[in-house]
This record gives sequence, structure tokens and C-alpha cells, in this order.
Amino acid sequence: MKNVTHNELRQLWRQFYEKKGHAFIGSASLIPENDPTVLFTTAGMHPLVPYLLGEKHPAGKRLCNVQKCVRTGDIDDVGDASHCTFFEMLGNWSLGDYFKKEKIAWSYEFLTSPDYLGIDTKNLAVTVFAGDDDCPRDTESAQLWQDCGIDKSRIFYLPKACNWWGPAGMTGPCGPDTEMFMAANRPDCKVGCGPDCRCGKYLEIGNDVFMQYNKTAEGTFEPLTQKNVDTGMGLERMLCVLGGLKSVYETDVFLPIIRKIEALCGKTYGENEETTRAIRIIADHIRTSVHMIGDERGVVCSNVGQGYILRRLLRRAIRFGNKLEIPSGGLCEIARAVINVYKNVYPELAQGDGKIMAEIEAEHERFGRTIAAGLKEFEKLARYQVGDTISGKACFRLYDTHGFPVEMTEELAREYGFKIDKAGFDTAFVEHQQKSREGAEGDFKGGLADNTAQTTRLHTATHLMHAALKKVLNDENVNQKGSNITEERLRFDFTFGRPMTDDEIAEVEKLVNKAIEANIPVTCDETDVETAQKNGAIGLFTQKYGEKVKVYTIAGYSKEICGGPHAASTGELGQFKILKESSSSAGVRRIKAVLVHSTQHTAHSGG
Ligand code: ALA
Repeated sequence: MKNVTHNELRQLWRQFYEKKGHAFIGSASLIPENDPTVLFTTAGMHPLVPYLLGEKHPAGKRLCNVQKCVRTGDIDDVGDASHCTFFEMLGNWSLGDYFKKEKIAWSYEFLTSPDYLGIDTKNLAVTVFAGDDDCPRDTESAQLWQDCGIDKSRIFYLPKACNWWGPAGMTGPCGPDTEMFMAANRPDCKVGCGPDCRCGKYLEIGNDVFMQYNKTAEGTFEPLTQKNVDTGMGLERMLCVLGGLKSVYETDVFLPIIRKIEALCGKTYGENEETTRAIRIIADHIRTSVHMIGDERGVVCSNVGQGYILRRLLRRAIRFGNKLEIPSGGLCEIARAVINVYKNVYPELAQGDGKIMAEIEAEHERFGRTIAAGLKEFEKLARYQVGDTISGKACFRLYDTHGFPVEMTEELAREYGFKIDKAGFDTAFVEHQQKSREGAEGDFKGGLADNTAQTTRLHTATHLMHAALKKVLNDENVNQKGSNITEERLRFDFTFGRPMTDDEIAEVEKLVNKAIEANIPVTCDETDVETAQKNGAIGLFTQKYGEKVKVYTIAGYSKEICGGPHAASTGELGQFKILKESSSSAGVRRIKAVLVHSTQHTAHSGG
């Protein structure tokens, strides 16, 4: 096995795929350009969706790159040995060109050839798609791996939950995949132990997706006109494997950053759990912040969208920096260490040095003024806390007066053995927004909106109505059965045993319109299904989701797993009106509803 530096690994990847006729296209921005439904680029394929669907790519049909990615679902898990919010994905693509035969042979060659990674075949295992009603069993890939030299006993067939990738949202390109694993040299933990076992014997190191389907809004899989390949390999994880290291934080992308933090605080990574965790959090969060601010479409701190994520990262880094007693100005020194690690790969960081330092300093200055008082207030709260849940009002006060992101208060509460009332926070947040709003009535701006914009609004209205139905009917069993949206109306089927009363219908309308009047931003987060559910997101058809899901939040009203797209803010929706409530089938009700006086209608009627 080759022990390589991060620069060497990127080079090896590029060389290998250029030799196989691929054009190196470089990393796209961390901020998706044409997709308002996700905050950050989360995989190399994201910027390539139009080309996977058949559009012609100017660089040809064989592409490769190293893509900067951010996944924000696990921010609070950062601190352990494996979670990071920023990572780089080594990727290559066939856009309707070669398929399984070439791809599997090349993946094998890259992993095992002494000129490249030199991994011993005996340490590898692979998984292939087991087959179901949507797509046949992938015996072809299994045979191809065998032809390469992977022993049959090391080839595992797994179902969609494991061996299927995409779509990135609710609809779009996807397909069965074949995944590569390093198998630890130890006996199986039990009969049936394999790559899908949680014992940790198998570590995923790469993924070839055979993107040959388009998942439609109805949930069916239609064959694409072209068969694509989408490969992903995590750079940090691969460095960790090749170096025989215990943690990605010990690889050479992190070590110089960690050393800088040690020098600043006079403590040592590894000296105890608490210090190690704090050092990892600071290293990860400053690394990600530097990439966000320094990106070509750079982010600045704010209270919404990407800016809020950046703010959360920086404020969490500041809090842990204070814990380690890192002196003032220290975060900028750490940021410089990050820039230094990446100076040959992402020149935009060194070029953006000024704006990166200015943004970190400004946020430090803003938060620095209030953090001490906020922590004091929190300690007081904790001391006099009756019961195990800190009230939403108290959380809101920490947010509003002291700039504590609610997630930070939640983390602090956990450290003290408390929970927080998140829903109560959301309510306080919304109430505050309502109070500070200046007569937004009639504020629906003109401008000709297209049909898609109208269906998008109806989609957002569907989320609000779904949440309102659950609330008004006070029934846990009220669940979505189906949804269909045209540019005219939404139609929504849900489980409920009797017709709704007129009062109940009016109440649902009222709740939805209240949310619309409050003009609440619709925010989107990427996370895994488990975390989403833990955070109270409603989500149906769970088994159909991939590992990562988008969660759309309308603070105080709705949190739902969904592929989007959605309106940017509920104020765009106009007046919500239920036209009809009827039976759809036994135990299932159907609602048809419309939005009136929304942007589009104003434009039409106002001419
Ligand atoms: N898009 C695939 C992944 O992220 C390759 O794993």
C-alpha cells in the first residue's frame, strides 16, 4: 500500500483518469449554481446533473475532478474520529460513454496497481446490487470483479438501501452502485457479517454508481437515454486508509492545522478526550469556514441559508477556542494554516486571504462581545433549572441577546445534562419576526413568474398544510398518502378516518395563512434519515430515501424530509384556500387547495 501525501493522491487520481481519456474539469463552487434547493455541493455529481440527464458537456463524455464538498447534517457529531463537515471527493464520470466493464477494471487497477494505490487484493471486498422490481440483480458487476481477481467470497449482494445512489434530491439521475471496501484482517463478528454490518470490520473506500435511471416525482424509475457512470472516492478517508491511521484528523490535510492549534493553546492532541475533541472541532470548523468564505461564490455570516451555517461553525469554533484558551487572533492563525495546506490546490484561498481573515475577525468581534455574558446567563439558567428541559423562551433570549445559535444552546444543554424546547424556540422566533415585520401585506411583488414557480409555491403550501392537518386533527395517524401538484392547485391525500368538519377546515386554512403572513424563510439542510427524524422531521416513504436527505424547515410550522424545490420564503405564497375535502379511498381523505394572489396571479391580473 502506498503512503501518499494529499497532493500526491490528487495527482495520482488525475493522472490515472487522464490516461484513460478523461478531461480534468476541476472543482465546481461549493455553492450550487443552479440549484436553490440545497445549500452546498455535497457530491461530485451535483454540478453534473444536467449532463447525466443528457445535455452535452463541453469537455466531452469522460470527465474527472476533485470536488470540494460540504455536508452539514452532522455538525454536532464533529469531534469524533471520523466526522468532517468539509471533504474532497475524487470523482470521474462517463456521460453515456463506457459502462460497467471498463469502470470496474479501472477501479480495481487504481486501487491495486503498484503504480497507483497498491492495495493488496486480499484486503478488498465489494458489494453489488441485489436486484428488485425496479432494477435487475447486478450479476454482471459481480462477474467483472471476479474477473479482476476479487474472490467470490468477498463479493456481497445488497439491496437498494445499501447499493443504490441518488437522486441527489427527490427526483433525478440515480442507479445501482457497486461499492469498494477495505476489510480489516480479523474474523467476522458473526455469521452473516459483511459490509452492511455495523461491527466496523469493513470500511467503504469508493463507490461506482451506474446511473441509468431517472427517478420521477411519482417514485418510478425510468431508464435514462444514456447510461452513465458516477464515481466517488473520499480523499480524506483514503489518505487515512493508506497511512494506516486511526483518524482522518491524523492525515496530512489536518496535521498542520492541529499542530497550529496545539502551539496556540499549549495542549496536546491526544492528551485526553476532551482536549482532542475540542481540537478536532476547531480544526474542522475553521477548515470548512475558510473554504466557504474563500470560495469563488464566497459565503459571509448571516442568519439564513449558507451564511447561518458559516455562523454556526465559526461560533462553535470560537466557543471551543475559548475553552482551550486560544488567545485572541488565534483563529486567524489557524485559518492561515488551512490556507497553507491547500495553497497549491485551491489558489482562491490564498487570493482571498484578506476577505477570509476579515470575516473571521468580524464574527469573532461580534460574538466575542456577547459570548461571555451569554455563557454566564446559561450557567445561571442551568443552576436554577427545574426539570430537564430548558424553555424555548430562554433559548430565544440567548439567541436574540447573546447571538447563541440555537444548536449551540442545545449542545451546551447536553453538556449539562439538559434538553431544550426546540419547538418553543421556533415559536418564540416566529413571534418575534411577526412583531418586527413592517406591513408586508400587499408586498407580493409583480414580475412574471413561470409555471414552475407556481408549482413550487404550491409545494411549500403542501408542507404547511400537512403540518397544520396533523396539528388540527390532533392525530398521529394523519399521514401523507399521496401528493399531486399542477400549476393550478395542490391535491393531497392523507390517512384519516372521517370527513373533516367545516371548523377543522377553517382552522387548517387559518394556520397555513398565519405562516404565510409571517413570511418565514424556508431553509434546507442536508442530513441522514436518522438525524432528520431525531430532529422531528416528518418523512414518509422512508425506505425509498438514500443515505442523505434534505430537510426543509419552516421555523415554527413545518419540518419535513423532501427533495424540494420550495419557495424561498412563505410570504411568496399568497392566500391559501381549501377548495374541497372528500373521501379518496377507505380511511384516506383528499384535499384540493389553491393559492390566490400569489406573485404569479398578481402579475396576471395586474397585467
Ligand atoms: N455520487 C456518489 C457518491 O457520492 C459517487 O458516493
